[in-house]
Amino acid sequence: MEKLTYEKPYIKKLHAGVMNKFGTRTGIQPVKQIDGVSVKSLIENYGSPVFVLSEKKIRKNYRSAYRAFSTRYPKVQFAWSYKTNYLNAVCQIFHQEGSWAEVVSGFEYHKALRNGIPGNKIIFNGPGKSNDDLQAAIDNDSLIHIDHFEELNQLLVLSKKLATKPRVAIRVNMDTGVYPSWDRFGFNYENNEAWTAIEKTINSNKLQLVGLHCHIGTYMLSAGAYEIAANKLCDLAMRCKAQLHHKIEYIDMGGGFPSTNTLKGAYLPGSDTVPTVDDFAEVITSTILNFGFAQDDLPLLILESGRVLIDDAGYLLGTVVANKRLSNGKRATIVDFGVNILFTSFWYEHQISPAQDFNSHNENMIIYGPLCMNIDVIRESINLPLLDPGDQVVVHQVGAYNMTQWMQFITLRPAVVLIDKQQHTHVIRTGETLHYTEEPEIIPGHLKPDK
Ligand SMILES: Cc1ncc(COP(=O)(O)O)c(C=O)c1O
Repeated sequence: MEKLTYEKPYIKKLHAGVMNKFGTRTGIQPVKQIDGVSVKSLIENYGSPVFVLSEKKIRKNYRSAYRAFSTRYPKVQFAWSYKTNYLNAVCQIFHQEGSWAEVVSGFEYHKALRNGIPGNKIIFNGPGKSNDDLQAAIDNDSLIHIDHFEELNQLLVLSKKLATKPRVAIRVNMDTGVYPSWDRFGFNYENNEAWTAIEKTINSNKLQLVGLHCHIGTYMLSAGAYEIAANKLCDLAMRCKAQLHHKIEYIDMGGGFPSTNTLKGAYLPGSDTVPTVDDFAEVITSTILNFGFAQDDLPLLILESGRVLIDDAGYLLGTVVANKRLSNGKRATIVDFGVNILFTSFWYEHQISPAQDFNSHNENMIIYGPLCMNIDVIRESINLPLLDPGDQVVVHQVGAYNMTQWMQFITLRPAVVLIDKQQHTHVIRTGETLHYTEEPEIIPGHLKPDK
């Protein structure tokens, strides 16, 4: 039998209230492989830390979400939210599955074009489109979602001399019973700004109003909020038909369905509390179907889901650097990945699993990253077996928003590896190098180091 590592005994103050109603059991299991590829070999081949994505899981998530909507409603289209994860390999998986692209900046827009997406399958959201962005979207016949009156006026100027009308949608914000309401994007429903924008767009005769859009929030825990939102968009679409004799071709319900990650401070794990995609599909589709549209006028239903389609397909593998005792006796474990590459650790209590066998002694500990910054805390409190330097860990559900919001800060950003359905591994983004980070820098002559 392998000799166990000696752990120094210590005296620890007991803090009342650490147990929840299920006691202290953690049910931790070692996670030694991802899609049949061993964690050890992934770290050996691609370094530590390293992000790993499962192509199988991404496709499975997409197909089950698409099925949830398309079995309930005749016309459904998903558009991949680029900002959730715009690594090109990831976008291509969604595009191969049939997703359009949903982008929110000129940078993302051109990424989608370079990914081979035809302009008319790109939805352009966001409050900060430049004249050049709008011109490119007009030239490529993209779907421009108007956020504010400035943008509407900009579009009217750009379309003055055009023979064909650019295709646009009005982004609508509204009270959905979830507070604080997201009212900073688009035009408000309750104060009638949305209707004013619709009238102005149609009456301009310069733009073709094809859709109505909303994105009511993110990590939404209430399916009922989508029922309210769908009702309000349907109401606007019906009024367009009745009062302005104008047919709305699509209703875009945005994204916002939660992954099963656990929010910080939540009493129960996300897997026990979040509604399923089926729950959301049921309320959204039944609201539209029952609203009273004539069969020919049923709008296309667009969804821009991000996190729910990719979060659980992403893992971050890392290695324990050291352990220490804090002044209050709490165990602290330092790992080799920081909050700069795991942005979502500010919102989520990410599940962390040891990647090797462990003994039965668990302890409540704090997990720090390697940054020399006080904010670099991956988990403030987690029950884990005692980990030794060199032990490997797997952080779960990190596929959404980390590989776009990560920051090169103190350390370099690591490689991202995709495991395909045949269990082959592919580097889809190489780990950064010093050369890569210094490439855009210019040192003025008088500051150049002496040769
Ligand atoms: C307009 C729009 N659509 C879709 C999304 C995707 O949201 P989620 O990842 O919560 O599904 C976002 C994200 O903020 C967004 O702003």
